[in-house]
Amino acid sequence: MDIGYSVEQLRVAATDAVRAPSLHNVQPWRFRLRDGGIEILVDPARRLPATDPSGWGARVAAGAALFNLRLALAVAGHPATVRLRPYPAEPDVVARLVPDVPRRPTPTEQSLYAAIPRRFSNRAPFWPDPVPADARWRLSDAARAEHCWLELLIGVSAVNAFAEIANGANRVLERDPAYRAERQAWIRREHALDGVPTAAGGPRAEPQDLLPARGFGDRCRPPGRDFEPEPLVAVLGSTGNTAVDQVVAGQALQRVLLTATDCGLSVSMLSQPVEVPSAREQLRVSLGRFGAPQMVMRIGYGQPGWPTPRRDVDEVLDLPVHQV
Ligand SMILES: Cc1cc2nc3c(=O)[nH]c(=O)nc-3n(C[C@H](O)[C@H](O)[C@H](O)COP(=O)(O)O)c2cc1C
Repeated sequence: MDIGYSVEQLRVAATDAVRAPSLHNVQPWRFRLRDGGIEILVDPARRLPATDPSGWGARVAAGAALFNLRLALAVAGHPATVRLRPYPAEPDVVARLVPDVPRRPTPTEQSLYAAIPRRFSNRAPFWPDPVPADARWRLSDAARAEHCWLELLIGVSAVNAFAEIANGANRVLERDPAYRAERQAWIRREHALDGVPTAAGGPRAEPQDLLPARGFGDRCRPPGRDFEPEPLVAVLGSTGNTAVDQVVAGQALQRVLLTATDCGLSVSMLSQPVEVPSAREQLRVSLGRFGAPQMVMRIGYGQPGWPTPRRDVDEVLDLPVHQV
């Protein structure tokens, strides 16, 4: 077993970790090396007070980054043992990774790792082709492998019932001027290393849309390019809703997203019904599930696109001065 991870191993793994998704692409994470262990922290300077007052979104994003870290280390032959929220007195420390017994990566680890740079949120309409059964099975299995559940909504009435909950939640959020101002502040009309570029924001919402969009996009839709009439909607949930559960859910989210990418599928996220407590409870009850919904995804076959920018990895590493 290795004594500890090196600065170089941290830098390489963190380069993959920062490809994880985050609310408004705020990238709310930092990474450090302490006593040979890699630690990932939520960055308090990158909280979204109006959109994410409880810190749920930051913990889910950090969990997703943690999953990429785990994959990167495993693929390099140095898998980690992970302890979540290791220091009760330091709640911002999301996880600590120490070296486990070195081994070869599994084929699944290799294919998920290869999907990291190809994954991106695709907010444009998808083709109407249905997602085949084997891909649905792989997506559910990905969530289960990370101790979460994935509910795929089957049938028009289930999707319509969900749409009602999601649109209600969206209306609640949109009534808050601070929420709207925060979203505006993270829209990027020119090249930037964080925030959501308008080119990635999807088309402008139109009254016939079934599901609410977050409102990052300002592009008009060519006639006939409406959203798919029967989207595949998937709800990811965890067994509880503690801070640890949210980090667990973030890891499951990333595993589902990378599995989708590996299956050739596109995904966009819509978390409005998770952010409004009454809508979240309505959603949970409508699914007949215990625990807590943590994310909703629209999954299908999309047009090609490209990943959004990230800050340079050195901006998110906290290294002792002599190791920089
Ligand atoms: C917790 C969380 C909530 C999110 N909610 C939404 C959402 O409601 N609508 C949306 O379009 N994207 C949502 N996203 C996706 C982010 O906006 C996206 O990950 C970020 O802009 C980076 O882009 P990328 O996914 O293409 O890397 C969410 C992501 C996370 C992690």
